[in-house]
Amino acid sequence: YRTIDALDAHGKRVLLRADLNVPVRDGLITDRTRIERLCPTIAELANDGARVIVCSHFDRPKGRRVPEMSLKPLQEALAAALRRPVAWADDCIGPEAEAAVAALQDGEILLLENTRFHAGEEKNDPAMAAALARLADAYVNDAFSAAHRAHASTEGVAHLLPSFAGRLMEAELKALDAALGNPARPVVAIVGGAKVSTKLDLLGNLMKKVDVLVIGGAMANTFLAAQGHPVGKSLQEAEMHDTAREILAGAQAAGCEILLPVDLVVAEEFRANAATRTVRADAVPEGWMALDVGPKSEEAIEQRLRGASTLVWNGPLGAFEIPPFDTATVAVAQIVAALTQSGALKSIGGGGDTVSALRHAEVIDRMTYVSSAGGAFLEWLEGKTLPGVAALTNK
Ligand code: 3PG
Repeated sequence: YRTIDALDAHGKRVLLRADLNVPVRDGLITDRTRIERLCPTIAELANDGARVIVCSHFDRPKGRRVPEMSLKPLQEALAAALRRPVAWADDCIGPEAEAAVAALQDGEILLLENTRFHAGEEKNDPAMAAALARLADAYVNDAFSAAHRAHASTEGVAHLLPSFAGRLMEAELKALDAALGNPARPVVAIVGGAKVSTKLDLLGNLMKKVDVLVIGGAMANTFLAAQGHPVGKSLQEAEMHDTAREILAGAQAAGCEILLPVDLVVAEEFRANAATRTVRADAVPEGWMALDVGPKSEEAIEQRLRGASTLVWNGPLGAFEIPPFDTATVAVAQIVAALTQSGALKSIGGGGDTVSALRHAEVIDRMTYVSSAGGAFLEWLEGKTLPGVAALTNK
């Protein structure tokens, strides 16, 4: 793929696909990471004299104009983060968008309304892609986190204009390559979260690529139960036991060590500061549930990390939202941060809950890279080709 280093932006109309699908609660943006990470690309293009036309989806309006899903509030947020004015167009294609683009001067920035207000976006309708392409002379994709969607603004339009990866896209792709594409070995992966069933492809791909696969979170209960251990009333997927055994056998055949918890922190109820006990992983008492991995498991993970050069982390080790079940996740995150800062470990994390867990552990700034992507990061861990990235690469 070409980065914006190869784009002579001066005087050009540049369509920049961003991911401004930020979390909002009660009308307020609760996390500005995606906005902040987008700013360097916008600023660089504007400084180079481009007319920067920013487009993005927001939420899932399903092809209709849903006022609560307007990108309008992002105009001010973006202007504040950039410390420059940002103009607005009430539509992302058609006469209104075209007029707003025509009014732009070199170095100015325009934000377009939600691309998903048009059904053609998610259908990757060639007419929608053509209408977007008409707005610009070049296309820059900075939305790695939406690259798993083959939509008109993430995929279709890339075939119609000279296309480039923005700085955020470039940073994500470099970090991912350092994690699994071409990693320094040994590689450890930590995979947690609730369900084995949602991470089958991910586990299948990782066991072929990493040296040690640490399994935590509630999905570890399914593996322990599949090995015949009592799991009390722990969350687990009884219908996944055969699959779990197949994964264990597959990993062994692939030469990948699977590290399951050796001890667990259990409680009778999932609530803050519930009375807990630490038990062996093969001895969860009847009526109790596992909510975190225990100190011996933490030690085993630490030992693997000390011997590793690269870490890929997806999913918390315990029910970290409610203390004290955040203990192992926070402790391991602290070790990861220290090893990263000492230069011994390259650490890459991402996907859904992982970012909240790492933020909770206050290590985001001390890891090598934390992806801003949710679903796209997971699909990439599954080894899938992301259409938004492929469209940039195959040019
Ligand atoms: C995300 O938040 O993961 C991306 O913006 C993609 O959103 P989507 O799942 O609605 O396509």
